[in-house]
Amino acid sequence: MKNTVLTFREAKGREKLVMLTAYDFSTAKIMDRAGVNALLVGDSLGNVMLGHKNTLSVTLEDMLRHCAAVARASENALVVCDLPFMSYRVSREEAMRSGMRLLAEGMAQAVKLEGGADFCPVVRELTKASIPVMGHIGLTPQSVHAMGGFRLQGKTLTQAQIILDDARALEEAGAFALVLECVPAVLGQRITREVGIPVIGIGAGPGCDGQVLVWQDMLGLTDNPAKFVKVFSEMGQAMAAAFAAYAGEVRAGVFPGMENSYGALDEADFEGLR
Ligand code: KIV
Repeated sequence: MKNTVLTFREAKGREKLVMLTAYDFSTAKIMDRAGVNALLVGDSLGNVMLGHKNTLSVTLEDMLRHCAAVARASENALVVCDLPFMSYRVSREEAMRSGMRLLAEGMAQAVKLEGGADFCPVVRELTKASIPVMGHIGLTPQSVHAMGGFRLQGKTLTQAQIILDDARALEEAGAFALVLECVPAVLGQRITREVGIPVIGIGAGPGCDGQVLVWQDMLGLTDNPAKFVKVFSEMGQAMAAAFAAYAGEVRAGVFPGMENSYGALDEADFEGLR
């Protein structure tokens, strides 16, 4: 079944929503065929694809290229693309232009942006312009310097209240769903109960309406993953073993054998070669 912002809203309270990050055509195709509800072209591509320490230097052009690749692979999953740091914070006009480009050129079906009540004017404007918005609150990696690092958010009553108020404000501004990152599980459950839009958790406990993970984390490709990550398959180890086996066979002259080679018609056919 084709996932849309409408099926997302309807899923609330009925079925858990499954989202994974995706950055390229081949991986996105596997996820789409596995029945993942949404593919998030996250600006985490700055970390896992480009090797940056944080997401701040990811550009709109980076997002457009990767989003279009994912969109070409997706038949049923909703494609959501992050607005990168530099693309929506300077002015609402810039946010509009960036959102429009992600839909028109990146072929995203929705955009995601980090921030709470302060960003509601942008969310309202994008939504009015038919650009569906997924909010992102709790730990917001684009604010790494303001937060003093990547750490659990909403630990005190005051902080938790701000995050809950942000969730309510984003719903009111028109966001169709929220990502809630790295908060105590009780807060995840409370926010999920309080808002009428789906809350997709990452490190926000089991009470959320759905979950999202970065695929390199859940397939064991990440060194020292966060506590909230579960490794579902040690693909990193499997890949390392396969690369080593390939290197060994090439060096030993075992690969390629004739079964992986194109046989000559007959040696005599090549006698004329000089
Ligand atoms: O960029 C990203 O991958 C994200 C997820 C962590 C939710 O925003």
